[in-house]
Amino acid sequence: MATDKTDEKVWDFDSYSWTDRYDDAVQADQDMYARYDDVLDAVAEIACTTEGAQVLDIGAGTGNLSIRCAERGACVTGLDSSRRMLAQAQAKVAAKAGDVQFVLADDPFLHLSFDDNSFDAVVSTYAFHHVAHKLQPKAVREMMRVLRPGGTLALGDVAFRDAAAEEAARGRFDWLDDEFYLHVDELTAAVATIGARLETRQMTPTTWVLWAVKPDATRHGGGRA
Ligand SMILES: C[S@@+](CC[C@H](N)C(=O)[O-])C[C@H]1O[C@@H](n2cnc3c(N)ncnc32)[C@H](O)[C@@H]1O
Repeated sequence: MATDKTDEKVWDFDSYSWTDRYDDAVQADQDMYARYDDVLDAVAEIACTTEGAQVLDIGAGTGNLSIRCAERGACVTGLDSSRRMLAQAQAKVAAKAGDVQFVLADDPFLHLSFDDNSFDAVVSTYAFHHVAHKLQPKAVREMMRVLRPGGTLALGDVAFRDAAAEEAARGRFDWLDDEFYLHVDELTAAVATIGARLETRQMTPTTWVLWAVKPDATRHGGGRA
């Protein structure tokens, strides 16, 4: 089970033989990446509702979500810890118009070097499952911290209703790996600690889009994490 793993596990995309072929894997549209384009489109549509919105994409990888958000008029900052993933992202952006910048960042879900209330949206696809389950609530608070009140946190990733649903799925889907797939019940509880409500859209048997709006601190008595 994913929950048996240590918190120290690190996914170093700069060390993998397939990193430069990542986009081929997602375009195969199978297993973990079934309906990949639809998942990214859904996240971008939920998060990027106004022209010029300031959007932070965490674990931006080869830039596919960042570019979608920019195409919807957002000003995007994409963070990732892999030089090789960001090099691919940078090459795509150079060939397109759009307001996107990619920045190399260590451990970006847990340590964001931005002021409180800096972004209209924080987005991430297929990256949050690299954060240990017990650290995911802390990462949610950090992402909410940099969101302005009324801003949206939107995630697309492999997810299950709860740990029992993940366990059952492991009997059906042999590609499920030793990653910290998201649990809707735990993330519902995490966003509730700041007075937000988690919205859900299941895209495949194993992939969900999850989002929450940061409450207005004056109405909820504590919109800051
Ligand atoms: C599967 S790729 C997803 C890339 C992109 N968001 C997408 O939807 O195609 C996961 C990305 O997360 C990054 N990553 C790995 N561990 C991370 C961590 N602990 N925090 C943030 N990003 C991480 C990797 O470098 C990689 O670029």
